[in-house]
This record gives sequence, C-alpha cells and structure tokens, in this order.
Amino acid sequence: MVFQPRTIIEPFRIKSVEPIRPTTPEQRATALSKAGYNLFLLHADDVLIDLLTDSGTGAMSTVQWSGMIQGDESYAGSRSFYKLEQTVREITGFKHVIPTHQGRAAERILFGTVCNPGDVVPNNTHFDTTRANIEARSAEARDLVIAEGRQPSYYHPFKGNMDLDALRATIETVGSEHIPLCMLTVTNNSGGGQPVSMANVRAMSELCHTYGIPFFIDACRFAENSWFIKQREAGYADHTPLQIAQELFSYADGCTMSAKKDGMANIGGFLALNDDAWAERCKNLLILTEGFPTYGGLAGYDMEAIAAGLHEALEEDYLRYRIRSIAYLGEKLLAAGIPIVEPTGGHAVYIDAKAMLSHIPPRHYPAQALCVALYLAAGIRAVEIGSVMFGRPLPDGSEEPAAMELVRLTFPRRVYTQSHVDYLAEALEYTAHQAENIRGLRIAWQPPALRHFTARFEIV
Ligand code: F0G
Repeated sequence: MVFQPRTIIEPFRIKSVEPIRPTTPEQRATALSKAGYNLFLLHADDVLIDLLTDSGTGAMSTVQWSGMIQGDESYAGSRSFYKLEQTVREITGFKHVIPTHQGRAAERILFGTVCNPGDVVPNNTHFDTTRANIEARSAEARDLVIAEGRQPSYYHPFKGNMDLDALRATIETVGSEHIPLCMLTVTNNSGGGQPVSMANVRAMSELCHTYGIPFFIDACRFAENSWFIKQREAGYADHTPLQIAQELFSYADGCTMSAKKDGMANIGGFLALNDDAWAERCKNLLILTEGFPTYGGLAGYDMEAIAAGLHEALEEDYLRYRIRSIAYLGEKLLAAGIPIVEPTGGHAVYIDAKAMLSHIPPRHYPAQALCVALYLAAGIRAVEIGSVMFGRPLPDGSEEPAAMELVRLTFPRRVYTQSHVDYLAEALEYTAHQAENIRGLRIAWQPPALRHFTARFEIV
C-alpha cells in the first residue's frame, strides 16, 4: 500500500525566522484609538498576525535570495533586466516588457498614455488603485462582473467572470472610440479573489477584438487563477499551470502586473504589451517618472527576485498548498457559522460582514467594524473591502454604499503555518459570538481620494 496523506503540508522548511509579539487587550485598545480606528495607521509591531495584504509580504526562497546577490546594477542594459524580460516573455508571450516599481506604476503609465477624459474602461472589478488611476484621467472605471460574483454565498466556480452581455452593451452605448482598452482582473481581488475561466477570457478577447478594442489583463494573481482553471475547468486537468498561464495571456494584448503578488517579490511590477507605438509612449513616460526602461525604478536585484519568483508561483506543490490553506480556513469559518464568500478564492478568505453584522447598516461600515473587533480581540489585522474603500459620496451628503461589505483575511505567501490558521479560526469564532456587541463607525476625517488608507473613524 502507498501512503496517501490527507494533510497537504507547507512545501518548504523554515530557514530564517521573524518573531511576532502578542500584545494585551489594553495595548491594542490604545494603539487602535491612536490610529483613529484605521488599521492602516497601526504600527506593524502591534499586530500579531498581519492579514492586511498579500502584497509584498511574502517570504522569498533561497533561490530568490541567491539570485539577488547576482543582481546587475547597471543603469542601462542590466543582465537582470534581460533575465526578467525573458521570463515574462516566456510566460506571457508579450513583446515589450517594461519594469515598474509596483503594479500601480504600470497602471499609471498605461492609463496615462492611452486614457483620455470621458473614456470608459470596463473590468470585471477594478482594484482600488486601478480605479483611481483611471479616474485620475477623468475617465470612468466600470465594473461588469457577472451577477453571481456579487452574491457572497452563491456557489459558482468562476465568480470572477466578466458579464459579456453587459460588456457588449457598454461598448455599443459608449462607442469603441471611447474605450481605450478593456481589462480583466485575474483573480478578481475586489470581488473575493475569485477566478476567471479560460472560456470567459477567450470570449472576452474575441468580443473586444471584434470592436477593435485592445484587451489587457490585470495579472497580479495569474498563477492562482491558472490553478483554479486546472482544478475546475474541463480540459485543463492535465495542463501545467505554466501552460495554462501561457494560453491565458495569448488571448490578450498586454498586462499590468504587481510582482508583489504572484511575482513572489517584496517589491516590483511590470507592464507588458505587444503594440510598438503604445510601448514607445509608455517608455517615454517611464523615463520621466520611474527610470530607464531596463530598470524602471527597480534595483537589479529586485528584477532577479521577480524572475525567479514568477516561476516559483507556478509550481504545483506551492499552488496546491496555497489554495488549500485558504480553503482550510474557509471550511473552519463555515463550520462556525461565519458567512464568507463562497467558494474561497485564491489569496484570501472574505467574510461577509453585511450578513455577520446585520445590525450595522452600510453607512456605519460593518466590515470596518469587524476589522476593528478582530484586532481588539486577537491582534489580527484584516482589511475592509466595502463602503469605506468603495462607497461613493452623493450630492446630498449621504453615500452610495459598495455592492458588498467584505473583510478580507489576506494570506501573505509562504509566511504563516497551519497553527497560525487555527488561531485565526478560533479568534473569528470568538468574535462571531460577540457579534451583537460590535458597534459601527463613522468617518471623522477623510482625504479626497483613496480614503481607506488614511481616514479616521469614531465609534457610533
Ligand atoms: N491590481 C490588483 C488586482 C491588485 O490587487 C493590486 C494591489 C494592484 C493592481 C496594484 O498593485 O500594490 O503593486 O501597486 N493589491 C494589493 C492588495 C495592494 O492588498 O490587494 P501594487
């Protein structure tokens, strides 16, 4: 008989450790009130388990660290750039590879180059920086995810899919001349980290190209999306994640990428695209604000880390463990009666705070209130993806709430182990029992844009 383990283990051992420090409830209460109940404003040392983001928070491998020492820091023509370029070309097939310091820099350069006032950019769901970069061009960022993608407890294997009828209607109404490009975010972060199917990518590509509109992928979590396609879409079980990623990118004209996610690096990103004229204009803007096109604001060693990381993100053992860790927490929360976005996505478990804290109306930010409660109870830092992040001010001074009020428990890559996850589940169960005592918040101060980063709150 062959040993068939039920446990999917972390496919690595730990070579270097970083202590984390428990705090007392009193210390947490003081820290939080100083931070205006905004968890972005906490000192990270006051956080025990940090699930704010999976962005740049991962642990690098021995291969990545050893690559870093080989980084070529030449201003122009760095060997490390060519290594990165070759890797990105192998995975995406795109002709031009433009490094940037992170994903939003790629977005700013792309939209700053091709987007004009009054334009509309459709996406399944724009991430906050993508939306903000489009709006900074006085253009509209329009979210057109399928209806199932907006219903937290509705099971659909590819809840990140684009609503193609809505996309066609948008193109017909707006006119293709006012749509510089269409985007698709894989996985759909703001919609629960949900994947997009290959069939949907293919169909969207055909639709865009029928109207002569370039099709771009927001590729931050392309490897995780590829794993879901392998698991859930007929015909892909025998494909490697790399082959799936290659096919996915083959339908697109370009991508923006934050290498802080599936690039497995602590910093970095890129813009990759086929069009020569657009690439030329993007590089000119890059030189103005990021740097010469063979480093784009990165050190040579960063480009080494990304080149190695992009391959590691596509390793099957890693993806199996990664997606399983998220599902494991999701199962524990469901067993405890905590409502989450189902099925669990690629990089995070999303709690449906609207359902869990039904006594708090959206105008008092139930998801933010839950983040606050979770930190106070257990030193866990989660992030609100709800009306604080996406609420829209109305002329009468009120606010249009976001479609969903979610709390994202985001898993850094290769950082926490199963006992950390068990602790999380316990803490959430405890918080759920206290749910009726949790109070809403109101905004005491906010900046004009991207308010979730710096706003200050008061307890209602
Ligand atoms: N697109 C998506 C889908 C993202 O999730 C992010 C970042 C970006 C673009 C921007 O990339 O941070 O490198 O500038 N998401 C992080 C998060 C910050 O927490 O989800 P960046």
